[in-house]
Amino acid sequence: MKNFFFFLFSTLLVAILALPATSEATPKKRLDEATQTCRILTFYNSGWASPGSKIFKKSCKSCHYQGNDKGAPFLYSESKSMKGWNRVFLTRYPECAKNGSWSSLSMEDILQVNDYLYRNAANTYNPKDAEDCG
Ligand code: HEC
Repeated sequence: MKNFFFFLFSTLLVAILALPATSEATPKKRLDEATQTCRILTFYNSGWASPGSKIFKKSCKSCHYQGNDKGAPFLYSESKSMKGWNRVFLTRYPECAKNGSWSSLSMEDILQVNDYLYRNAANTYNPKDAEDCG
């Protein structure tokens, strides 16, 4: 009997500890390291119809579309994790960021694209979270 309770207890403990790791939901905030600001994310400022989404389509998808002949890998918001997208804009490691392909974008544009991609990044949608359900 004692063993049974021990088993029950450890199973519960594992379930409680493992749960947050498997159920990420749409983030509500983003710390922008470059400007040291906390960006509040909503459907209106970073959802699929937001300014950031439009800038992404116009200024990034112009090259990064499927089957392009510019040597640009296909990219969409779920191509990277939240961390991954922040790294793209903080370090600007991609070749296209260095060779002037981003030069038409203002600092504010960059922040908005980053917000949009972060909010819709890989593993951010969770239908079991109150924020995302329904
Ligand atoms: C003029 C075309 C062009 C535009 C516009 C452009 N890119 Fe790129 N991008 C490229 C090419 C070509 C590469 C591949 C360069 C290489 O050889 O590494 C690339 C590489 C990248 C990579 C690295 C690949 C990866 O999967 O990690 C990222 C990330 C990226 N671009 C993001 C962006 C974002 C975000 C924007 C918009 C702000 C953008 N790009 C706009 C052409 C473009």
